[in-house]
Amino acid sequence: MHTENLMEKIVSLCKRRGFVFQGSEIYGGLAGTYDYGPLGSLLKNNIRDSWLRKFVHTRMDMYLVDAAILMNQRVWQATGHVDEFIDPLVECSNCQKRCRVDAIVDEKDIMGLVARHGGSATAEDLASAQKFVGPLMKYILEQEHVTCPDCKKVAWGMPRVFNMMLETRVGAAADSTSVSYLRPETAQGIFVNYKNVVDTQSPKLPFGIAQVGKAFRNEITPRDFIFRVRELEQMEIEYFFNPDDTEKPWQELFDYWKEEQLEWFTAIGIDAERLHDYEHPAEARAHYSLKTVDWEFEYPFGTKEMSGLAYRTNFDLSRHSEFSGQKLDYFDEDTKTRFAPHVIEPSVGLERLFLAVLASAYSEEILENGETRVYLKLAPKIAPYKVCVSPLLRNKPDLVEKAKVVFQALRDEFTYVVWDDSGNIGKRYRRQDEIGTPMCIVVDFDSLDNDDVTIRDRDTAEQVRVPMSELSEHIRTRLA
Ligand code: GAP
Repeated sequence: MHTENLMEKIVSLCKRRGFVFQGSEIYGGLAGTYDYGPLGSLLKNNIRDSWLRKFVHTRMDMYLVDAAILMNQRVWQATGHVDEFIDPLVECSNCQKRCRVDAIVDEKDIMGLVARHGGSATAEDLASAQKFVGPLMKYILEQEHVTCPDCKKVAWGMPRVFNMMLETRVGAAADSTSVSYLRPETAQGIFVNYKNVVDTQSPKLPFGIAQVGKAFRNEITPRDFIFRVRELEQMEIEYFFNPDDTEKPWQELFDYWKEEQLEWFTAIGIDAERLHDYEHPAEARAHYSLKTVDWEFEYPFGTKEMSGLAYRTNFDLSRHSEFSGQKLDYFDEDTKTRFAPHVIEPSVGLERLFLAVLASAYSEEILENGETRVYLKLAPKIAPYKVCVSPLLRNKPDLVEKAKVVFQALRDEFTYVVWDDSGNIGKRYRRQDEIGTPMCIVVDFDSLDNDDVTIRDRDTAEQVRVPMSELSEHIRTRLA
């Protein structure tokens, strides 16, 4: 469904109904950070729980870890993040606005631009931020009259690289040994625990190690609401396998994970028609990756990466082995061979899923009276509230009493059931529609005589009467 100004509507609904607020809002905010309110926290938890259920709890070959956010600085030297986790940065000399160079020039035409202005770039340059920095890039910005997005002048300083890791100090010493970083990805917490997991769990290959947790990136230009943020939450898996296993070649495993990702995205309500796979061309991939495919989503501001899938070979384990001096290999008891396992990495950010879920669920309907009904068509399993219970009128003790009994009984059984007796019934429906509650139960005067309730459906607004004795079963079936 095409909705005009969808992004503005989602942002406004998120604030109005308590899903997402600007971080540190009463102090004017902190760019690239967001706080999740009562509804947003529940929605985020439900997405995370669903991921854990699908990829960890229902599998025999997956191990969960929860590693520290702060890690020994050697971790990031081994992975190359200290030298290579960089973005190209340029500052406007007129207004001091700092921009990512690849956000203000056409990234796809970068080869053409470089060639047009007498330069040359190798395939390796193209895969890194280096291609956007230095005197040639300054010359290109000037010759192409690329203006500053804020002051509209062409007055650029020298484009240079900028490391996106957020640096901090650990302990009282102020020397270089105290430097640490807020991890820029959860993946490395998995690799550095590879040996611990193998030694304590004795897993058989292929197996995966999963982690959910915060990651931090000092993005030069955080933007598009929660799409590009500085504090994010990742859900990542490193799936280890024997690269010489001819029965299960890596291509097969890769396709398997790609399908698993798609199946879960659609199960949590992300519109399959707005999802597209995009394979990175060889020259744009990290040198250690043999294949990288993103799942892109048609966000209201453009089709952008939602999640990634990468075949990272044994790059990470071999680098950590080299830097730590520890053996990080696998001994196969059956064949009595020792080798370095390879990995396939399905990775996704919770914020980008959250936004794709909302963009897929946001719906509008023009009512007969000309008003617009807004409802979030969330998959019941991730909806913040499953059921809302209310008495038709809140000043009728009989109705309130019976509704409270219904509420208590359901509350013990379903997570979450909410009570709402404010305003009139129309306003309650409107509010619950906007936050995506699949069912609203109302106790009315007939309920007192017949021991039944009405259940109104969020998507169709249709109402049915259900006997109390069948209520719990009825809800269970509709939530499945
Ligand atoms: N371990 C691999 C890795 O971190 P990535 O493509 O840099 O790969 C993985 O990040 C996922 O994390 C992305 O697909 C995206 O969903 C999410 N992500 C990355 N940077 C983000 C940011 N600044 N804001 C929100 N989500 C982000």
